[in-house]
Amino acid sequence: MRQKPNLPHLVSASSTKLQRSAPARDRFREQLGAWFLENGRDLPWRRTRDPYAILVSELMLQQTQVATVQPYFERWLARFPDFRTLAAAEESEVLHAWQGLGYYARARNLHRAARHVVERHAGALPDDSAAIAALPGVGRYTQGAIASFAFDRPAAAVDANIARVLARLFAIEEPIDSTAGARRVWEAAELLLPRTGGGLHTSGLMELGALLCTPRGPQCLVCPVRVHCAGAGAPELFPVKKAPRAQVGLDENCAWIVKRGAVLLEQQTGARWRGLWKLPPLAGGAPGDPPLWKATYPFTHHRVTLRVYSSGAPRKLGTSQRWFTPVALKEAALPSPHRRAVDALAAMPRLLNV
Ligand code: ADE
Repeated sequence: MRQKPNLPHLVSASSTKLQRSAPARDRFREQLGAWFLENGRDLPWRRTRDPYAILVSELMLQQTQVATVQPYFERWLARFPDFRTLAAAEESEVLHAWQGLGYYARARNLHRAARHVVERHAGALPDDSAAIAALPGVGRYTQGAIASFAFDRPAAAVDANIARVLARLFAIEEPIDSTAGARRVWEAAELLLPRTGGGLHTSGLMELGALLCTPRGPQCLVCPVRVHCAGAGAPELFPVKKAPRAQVGLDENCAWIVKRGAVLLEQQTGARWRGLWKLPPLAGGAPGDPPLWKATYPFTHHRVTLRVYSSGAPRKLGTSQRWFTPVALKEAALPSPHRRAVDALAAMPRLLNV
C-alpha cells in the first residue's frame, strides 16, 4: 500500500477504543496471548530464555526468513554454544559459519557483542536495558526483543511484522517508513505493553503478523483481536509506505583464474564485505566472449549482474589475493553469489584443471 489512503469509512486513528480504554487493552492482550499459546509455532529460539541464544536468533532473523534461519541457528549454537566460545573464535571461523545468511555486518557485530559481554559482564548478559542496548548491532528493536524474550520484560519491540499489525490495529495513516509513522508505531507498541509477561506479548504480536496479519491476504475473519482493529475493514490499505526507491542496475565483472588446480580469490577490505573472499575483479573491460557464469542478485536498491570470465594468471598477486585449492575453497567464507559461481565453475573439471 503506497501513499496516503482515503479512509472516510474507517474510525479515525485518534479515537480507536484501544487507545481510549485500558480495559479494552487488557482484553486485547488476553485474546492475543491465548491465541499465541494455541497457535504459535514451535521455533527453536522459543524453547530457550538464554540471552545469548536469543541474541543469535534475533540477529539472524533481522534480514532472513525463519525457515532459512532454523538450521543456521542450530548449527551455530552447536559450534558456538555461549558468549565465551564465540568471543574466543577467529573472525574467519565466524564468517564461515555465517556464510549463506548474507549481511555479514551482523556476524561481525555478534562476534563483537560476545567479546563485549565477556569483557564487561564476565560472559553473562545482565537483565538491564542499558547493558543490552550497549551491545554492537543491537538497535531499538533487538533491545526490546531480548528484554522481552530472554527476561520477560514489558519492552516494546517493533519489527516489520509488528509494525504492520500496529499500523492496521490503529489505522496509522503516516507511512511507517517515515519518521512520523515510525514514531506512531512505537507509541502504539508502548501503549499496548502489559505490566508483566512481555515475552508472551511480543511473541503474540509477532506471530499474528507472521501467520494471520500477513502483507497480502490477511485473515481478518479468524483474527483473535479483530474486534479491536481499526483497519479490519480494509487491511490492505495498511501499512502505508513511502514510494519505493528506484532499482539501479550494476555490473560486476570478475575473473576465473586457475593455476595448478587452485582458484584465485581476493579478500575484501571494504566495510561491507571485510574478511570475505570473492573472485577478483576482471582487469580491463569485459571481453567479447560470453562469460563462463552469469547471475543476477539484489543488493540494497541495486540489481547486480555478476559475470565471470576466464582470465590468465597475473604475473604478481595483489596483497589481498590468494590461491585456493578445492579443499581450502570449502573452508573460505564467500558472499552467496560468489559461492554459487565458484561451486558451479569448480565442479566443471575442464575449468579447474588448468
Ligand atoms: N522474527 C524476528 N524475531 C523473531 C522471533 N523471535 N520469532 C519469529 N520470527 C522472528
